Amino acid sequence: MGLYKMGNVIILGSQWGDEGKGKIVDLFSARFDIVARYQGGHNAGHTVVVGNQKFVLKLIPSGILHAGKKAVIGNGLVIDPAALLAEIDAMESAGVEVRGNLFISNRAHVLFPVHRMMEKLSASIGTTSRGIGPCYEDKMGRRGIRIADLLDPVVFRAQYDSVMEEKVAIAKALGIYEELDLRRIRDEYETFAERIRPMVRDTARLLNQAIRDGKTVLFEGAQGTMLDIDHGTYPFVTSSSASAGGACTGTGVAPTRISGVIGVSKAYITRVGGGPFPTEALDATGEMIRKRGNEFGAVTGRPRRCGWFDVPLLRYTAAINGFDSLVITKLDVLDELESIPVCTGYRLGTREIAEMPPTVAEIQKLEPVYERVPGWNTATFGISSYDDLPGKAKDYVAFLESRMGVEVGCISTGPERNQTIVRPGSRFEKLVA
Ligand code: GDP
Ligand code: IMO
Ligand code: MG
Repeated sequence: MGLYKMGNVIILGSQWGDEGKGKIVDLFSARFDIVARYQGGHNAGHTVVVGNQKFVLKLIPSGILHAGKKAVIGNGLVIDPAALLAEIDAMESAGVEVRGNLFISNRAHVLFPVHRMMEKLSASIGTTSRGIGPCYEDKMGRRGIRIADLLDPVVFRAQYDSVMEEKVAIAKALGIYEELDLRRIRDEYETFAERIRPMVRDTARLLNQAIRDGKTVLFEGAQGTMLDIDHGTYPFVTSSSASAGGACTGTGVAPTRISGVIGVSKAYITRVGGGPFPTEALDATGEMIRKRGNEFGAVTGRPRRCGWFDVPLLRYTAAINGFDSLVITKLDVLDELESIPVCTGYRLGTREIAEMPPTVAEIQKLEPVYERVPGWNTATFGISSYDDLPGKAKDYVAFLESRMGVEVGCISTGPERNQTIVRPGSRFEKLVA
């Protein structure tokens, strides 16, 4: 430890994504020198509200809104250059300086239109249709094209032509081929390459050097642990390592340099797309949460499935990630409920199940066991001090803490930066506030 100022923290989703990571990362990135994304692509949609401006970040780390803050897109991401450049342009026209502060890994993989075509094979998962899965398939299949390859005109042409030829043959054989002007796309990518070239770095080196110089890094997860390729509800997952381990493989920073892991969770739970969801509320209260919480996808606009806080699921993701502290967001969405069901266990027939089962078939059969916690039935929206919370809202948080065995160090009561409570004396406060 001695040589390094240990202040590098991972903030990631503890459910099925959209937990409010963007808001939390934006707010606390003020305390760090660099914010780094480590996996995913433009399937992510991280909403940050600053005054009357709303930004939805997809590939750019949420720290970029703080003037002068450095942001890194790590090697673990898959990058659609058209999406990235459009995002940079949109941010810059909104007055945010991106170029000059953003560094893109030369080892990240490049996503092509052909990946979206191949995604038709994964339709049953309810993906975001951005080509994310097929691009990661090429990475793991060792036929992917990386940013460094894109920047080398000779290497790029040779790789592109051979990879595309193979893809077209497969797509035709499987009956999913769509007419693509491969030559035009290649030319287009060559112009993208020139635009991103000034931002490309060996970001693992950059981050490790910064850490050696005493700078601090905040690692921003995308998606959530239950969408992680290994630990999520496979196959209803995304194709990357969305859990804490991904921060190391996805940036090239060693576990010995990480000093804390913080999970973000809603005060209830949501999921977009297909897959098992034990506490899904398919009734009028579920609909009420969707309305009050404005639970519609930031990327695809799809209605999010809503349900009740799932303690066994949180215990599972807390173990996978080693959470030091948990952030509970959207507490205000529950303001009008008389009582709140919380799932504290599962039953499978007559058996009690304490562990998250590995298969969809088993998870689908789980019956949640609910305990009802009294609601507070009064507005918490915008409250920024723990003392100002109604007693029953504090009791709800304390109930979750006691059942999960994890501290709730931060509570969010609205989309804006100042609508946030940091609990004095918490591990959260020591790590990021
Ligand atoms: P992310 O993908 O984890 O960054 O989350 P999203 O941005 O996809 O979805 C979270 C949504 O909830 C966004 O629209 C946020 O502006 C909003 N939000 C975040 N925290 C709160 C909160 O505490 N209360 C309310 N009402 N909205 C919040
Ligand atoms: P953020 O970072 C919520 C879901 C999709 C689908 C599954 C696989 O904003 O929390 P993919 O296109 O990744 O192959 O889709 O994962 N999904 C998300 N759900 N939030 C996200 O990102 C998501 N990114 C992917 O809906 O079920
Ligand atoms: Mg989102």
